Amino acid sequence: MDDNIKRAAEDIVEAGNKKVVALTGAGMSVDSGIPPFRGKGGLWEEFDPEVYAHIVTFKQDPAKSWKMLKDLIGLITRAEPNAGHFGLAELEKIGFLSCIITQNIDGLHQRAGSREVIEFHGNNRWLVCLDCEKRYEVSEVFPLKEVPPICDKCGGNKLKPDAVFFGEMIPPENLSRSNREAVNCKLMLAVGTSAVVYPAAGMPEIAKRNGAKIIEINPEKTPLTSSISDYIIEGSAGEIMPEIVKGVRQLSKQKIN
Ligand code: APR
Repeated sequence: MDDNIKRAAEDIVEAGNKKVVALTGAGMSVDSGIPPFRGKGGLWEEFDPEVYAHIVTFKQDPAKSWKMLKDLIGLITRAEPNAGHFGLAELEKIGFLSCIITQNIDGLHQRAGSREVIEFHGNNRWLVCLDCEKRYEVSEVFPLKEVPPICDKCGGNKLKPDAVFFGEMIPPENLSRSNREAVNCKLMLAVGTSAVVYPAAGMPEIAKRNGAKIIEINPEKTPLTSSISDYIIEGSAGEIMPEIVKGVRQLSKQKIN
């Protein structure tokens, strides 16, 4: 077993009962076939999310935002959780993980069995008409008949995913619960996030200030790596997470025996 994976398993066991929090980002779902927002190889090289997923763009020109959204939501709808999602679900089941703070809107953590999930940026299960407020389940609108989709109640063309766009507020309950979890944890796993979009990217800083260890799992270094993280395990979430959980299981068995 890679030294840092062994070290992470030891740190998790040492943190103890429900003292680990995971902050996850788009990299978590790359092994499920959903491209990340930033970095190479992403579908989003074509679409800058800070333009296409900005609330001002959406209100002025929903057809422009929907060029990106139709592919993203289409992909998410077909995706399945990967071994990384299942690893975190297992870590909760065996008593170490307090919660996941996810920036993802794909619902894959819950589908893998995680129960305590803070959807920091909302989710993709619902669409809401910004003109008349009618809500639609994604399955009522997808596959799309037209781009942008039209509200069948008011005829408006502003059906927006119920996720947080750039320029919108984080739901206050998500922010306050995440802050609390970051303050109280003894260890934070930052998995598959580039850690550049605030306030989510500030959670490891809060945890660190309150004495927690920070472990990154990411094939690439991030702004956290040199300043905040104790160490990084360089690799994909789908490969690394199950290995860490295996190590945690072995160590906690040894402790019992
Ligand atoms: N496993 C783990 N990490 C990976 C993998 C993988 N298989 N593949 C890529 N990564 C890493 C990349 O190296 C990068 O650091 O995942 C990170 C993805 O970064 P972003 O695309 O910026 O995703 P995220 O951090 O979630 O973005 C934050 O920005 O566009 C907004 O609202 C959107 O929630 C999103 C927010």
